[in-house]
Amino acid sequence: MTAEPDVARELAEILSHYSGAKSELIPILQDVQEKLGYLPEEVMQRVAKFLRLTDNTVYGVSTFYAQFSFTPTGRNKVTVCRGTACHVRGGARILAEIERRLGIKEGETTDDLEYTLETTACFGSCALAPVVVINKNVYGRVTTAKLAEILTMAE
Ligand code: FES
Repeated sequence: MTAEPDVARELAEILSHYSGAKSELIPILQDVQEKLGYLPEEVMQRVAKFLRLTDNTVYGVSTFYAQFSFTPTGRNKVTVCRGTACHVRGGARILAEIERRLGIKEGETTDDLEYTLETTACFGSCALAPVVVINKNVYGRVTTAKLAEILTMAE
């Protein structure tokens, strides 16, 4: 499989800032993750070649750190709290409504790569339950009626 042209261009741009030292592996992977939202397999192979490391080394390091993802993620990350306080205040209904609106289940990404839907145990903002976080914005006391507005604001 060959890389999409823009992926290849993004990678070339990232690698142009590095000298090829093996110690640059994690910073390079972080840059790729930030730019592309995930680590495509062919990109990891190219990074391995650039740093003269084996594919297994690059794969091993990248799977060790939870910050790296191997599947495409959406431009907007929607996280619904599944903690007790949020659950008691209708969190499950909020999650179901978001799944319905986006047409995806928890852990999935929309085909247009606009949204990835995740859940978490507790944001530590229980007083605002139920809580939904979109990217870095925290929305409290969310109702199903408010969701359309909240999701639109993320776009
Ligand atoms: S339980 Fe949802 S923020 Fe704590």
